[in-house]
Order: sequence, then structure tokens, then C-alpha cells
Amino acid sequence: MEKVIFLIGFMGAGKTTLAKQIAQQYGYTYIDTDLEIEKTTGKSIAQIFEEEGEQAFRKLEASALRSISFDKNTVVATGGGLPCHYNNMEWMNEHGITIYLKLTPQQLKERLGNEAESRPLLKNAKKTTLLTHIEHLTELREPYYNLAKFVILGTLASPQTIINTTTSEC
Ligand code: S3P
Repeated sequence: MEKVIFLIGFMGAGKTTLAKQIAQQYGYTYIDTDLEIEKTTGKSIAQIFEEEGEQAFRKLEASALRSISFDKNTVVATGGGLPCHYNNMEWMNEHGITIYLKLTPQQLKERLGNEAESRPLLKNAKKTTLLTHIEHLTELREPYYNLAKFVILGTLASPQTIINTTTSEC
């Protein structure tokens, strides 16, 4: 049976990098919900947030998720806020294997580094308040992230760990 793996977690957790590595090393089809939205709308994520607002983006995100095809082994890098809207966690748990890549707010801050400015939800947080902002958002999001079938510490996550974890599941 074809397998669909959903990588979930905060911005900077390494979902995209890991999903690309899994695709390359294990022949999975790679899907990134943000890229799917950019392809269908012809706009960047930042542009959608700016012109249409977060609510419109969340709708696009939920429909991008539901348009995934299941005919091949697939690994999906989901946007950091996707699990918290439109029953997306429930939907992913029904359609595949969810893995939460968990990192502490401090680790996330270090990983996000200067990139934070390019992310719509972090761009207004000053460097000094970035950690508090990440702490606050992760606290709000963890109840959703924790619905994942597996939780893997982001620092230990490798393509092999992910594949082994999902294989023991079947
Ligand atoms: C978001 C995370 C981003 C992107 C958008 C909103 C969020 O994806 O979907 O900027 O709400 O955490 P990444 O987690 O891939 O950065």
C-alpha cells in the first residue's frame, strides 16, 4: 500500500529539508503545501498574507492539503500553522502518518536566525522579542501538534529515523 507521511511542526523545524531528503533517498514524491499554494495562486505566501490576510491563506492551505494525491509513496512538508485549522490534524491522521518534529523555542530561534523576517508571522517580532513570540505561538500550537501519531525530536530526525518509524507502524 502507498504511504503518505505528513511532517508537521513549527517554522524552522526542518520539515522541508527532511522531506526533500526522504524524497531523494527513498524515492518518495515530495509535496510542500506552501509551494502548492504558490503554484495554484501564482502568488508568494508573503503576498497572500499581505493582500488577502491570514484567514484566506488558511483556506487555501486546507484545500491544498485535501488535493494531495495518494497514488504514490509521498512525503508532505506542511506549513507551521496548518495543523491548527480546519480539522487538518484529524484529516491527516485519517489519510496518512503524522510526525511532529519537535524543537524547543530556543532551538527554533537559533535555526530561524535572520530568516525570521521573511516569514509573515514572525516578521514584526523584533530580534529581542523573537523568543517570546515563538514561545507564545508554540504554546498555542502544541495541543494540535501533539495529536501527531509520532513525536520525534527535531535534532535527532533523519530520513532514516522517519522511514524506520513509519515502517514499524505498518
Ligand atoms: C506559517 C508557516 C510557513 C507558511 C506561512 C505560515 C505558520 O511555513 O505556511 O508563512 O503559520 O507557521 P513553514 O512552516 O514551512 O515556514
